[in-house]
Amino acid sequence: MCGIVGYIGTKKAKPILINGLLRLEYRGYDSAGIATMEKDGIKIVKEKGRIANLDAKEEINSLEGTIGIGHTRWATHGKPSAVNSHPHYDNSKTFAVVHNGIIENYHELRKFLEDNGYHFLSDTDTEVIPNLIHYYYKKEHDFLKSVKLACDDLKGSFALEILCNDYPDNMIVVRQDSPLVIGKGLNEIYISSDIPAILSFTKDFYFLNDREYAVLSRKNIEFYDNNLNSIDKMVKSIEWNTASAEKDGYEDFMLKEIYEQPNSIRETIGSKLSENKISFTDFEISKDYLETINRIYIVACGTAKNAGLATKATFENFCKIPTEVDIASEFRYRDPLINEHTLCIYISQSGETADTIAALKLAKQKGAKTIAVANVIGSSITRESDYCVYTHAGPEIAVASTKAYTSQVVLLNILALYFAEVLERVPALEIDNIKKEIMDLPKKAEITLGNVAEIKNFANTVYKETDIFFLGRGIDSYVAEEASLKLKEISYIHSESYPAGELKHGPIALIENDVTVIGIITNPKLVEKTVSNIQEVITRGAKTLVITNQKINDEQFYKTIHIPEVNPCLSPILSIIPLQLLAYYISKEKGLDVDKPRNLAKSVTVE
Ligand code: M6R
Repeated sequence: MCGIVGYIGTKKAKPILINGLLRLEYRGYDSAGIATMEKDGIKIVKEKGRIANLDAKEEINSLEGTIGIGHTRWATHGKPSAVNSHPHYDNSKTFAVVHNGIIENYHELRKFLEDNGYHFLSDTDTEVIPNLIHYYYKKEHDFLKSVKLACDDLKGSFALEILCNDYPDNMIVVRQDSPLVIGKGLNEIYISSDIPAILSFTKDFYFLNDREYAVLSRKNIEFYDNNLNSIDKMVKSIEWNTASAEKDGYEDFMLKEIYEQPNSIRETIGSKLSENKISFTDFEISKDYLETINRIYIVACGTAKNAGLATKATFENFCKIPTEVDIASEFRYRDPLINEHTLCIYISQSGETADTIAALKLAKQKGAKTIAVANVIGSSITRESDYCVYTHAGPEIAVASTKAYTSQVVLLNILALYFAEVLERVPALEIDNIKKEIMDLPKKAEITLGNVAEIKNFANTVYKETDIFFLGRGIDSYVAEEASLKLKEISYIHSESYPAGELKHGPIALIENDVTVIGIITNPKLVEKTVSNIQEVITRGAKTLVITNQKINDEQFYKTIHIPEVNPCLSPILSIIPLQLLAYYISKEKGLDVDKPRNLAKSVTVE
């Protein structure tokens, strides 16, 4: 969950590295460092804390080199400190390395190196890497071969950038299960953990598969497979524009991303549905194949998992296939019942979530077909899966996911309807009606955003609370789950969500005078039931906010937010929007860093 950046070209590397690190800071922000190739060899400057602390260091201004590597850290092994931050030298200071990932066998490697006379300065797993490279370099006298031999010994995940004093015009990069992209400019090359961080410099990218190596020089990139055979790679042009990776006048990325939703929803719809026709050019799924499927698993983490929950009913109701939604970190360890009759769908904004990728690999081993629903182009999951479909949310920078969620719910609904059309198990008219409703979603999302003033006022009345509860029935209970996650991650208020009917089986004991309870009511069939549950908490003194698209006598609630009506299977796309805004404004009222909440990183590339 760290971020790495690199530059090799003709400009001074330091400002480019700092700029890239600032954009990657969402991936980790407990310490940072850079190394540049100077006339008298590699120089490292590193510091505990945010990138600003690093940039404020006097010695960083003396770095003139035009080749460099940088790292922003989210501590796994070793507490946040200057000595544990990257880059790390080997003992002889011939090599400098930055690393994103975890070396699982580092104890063993450290012992081996100590037995061979090496000593260690930090508590990190990473420090074994430059020393191991050096160990092989003493025998091989070849930069690439030594890096390869060292990588052969590593177990775990890594994206590495490596500098060597004896090769002052080169850098080597390699990855295994951790993200790394290579951007090509004119006589310069940029490396990063993600595309947006270097999008202002280039739109042309190369993607490495696991254990492929790239040897970079200013004008050239040589690619090698794991046996060090030279390989060709195609450059891929990325359409995302630079403005989409900037704040663009908004105070925070999260607010900007919330407001981008009408457009990200429109783009996602436009990629698959037009003139009432669904087309998935990315893959062909035949009726014969779909008819063999007797179970669908949707697997993901966090918000992506909540997007899966929000669309489970569409798969079941329209495809008539039992559909289970599972948390990737649980799925991978519980020996799920999977065979060639199972279809597994994996959702991930970043496409780099370690648990989700591992869960995907497991399903492939057991003979199931896998579909990835990803946002980041070229990310690991898109290369691991049998089929891949992209949400078109554009870069999502804030740690709290907003526009990716709504795009995922849109895309999964379209995917379910596509399968339903192929399977012909429900009348075509039913599917057509939903398709028409999908086309209206961008306009309805805009209308929903119009409630901002009321949400801001409500945020102002509840931001000092210590507990907030969310309730809903059916699909609304899944929105409650997502709303609760959003609130806790950026406001640090303890929050829980419950299916409203569960309340009287325990949680109602927590309701007392002035406790805030937020209800979501969008399914006409469940209005009375949910209202009745909300009355139960009002009777016990709760202060209630209700988000609804139904006609309800709202005098009984402390506050009601009305949103446009839509078919229940699409309602999460709209009902979550006021609750994203609520979490945002509560966090602002508390004076917190909305985009970079404590202890969290945007992509969780470690287990
Ligand atoms: O990149 P992914 O969609 O795989 O990420 C999954 C979760 O880590 C992510 O949704 C997380 O829960 C967000 N911080 C929620 O806002």
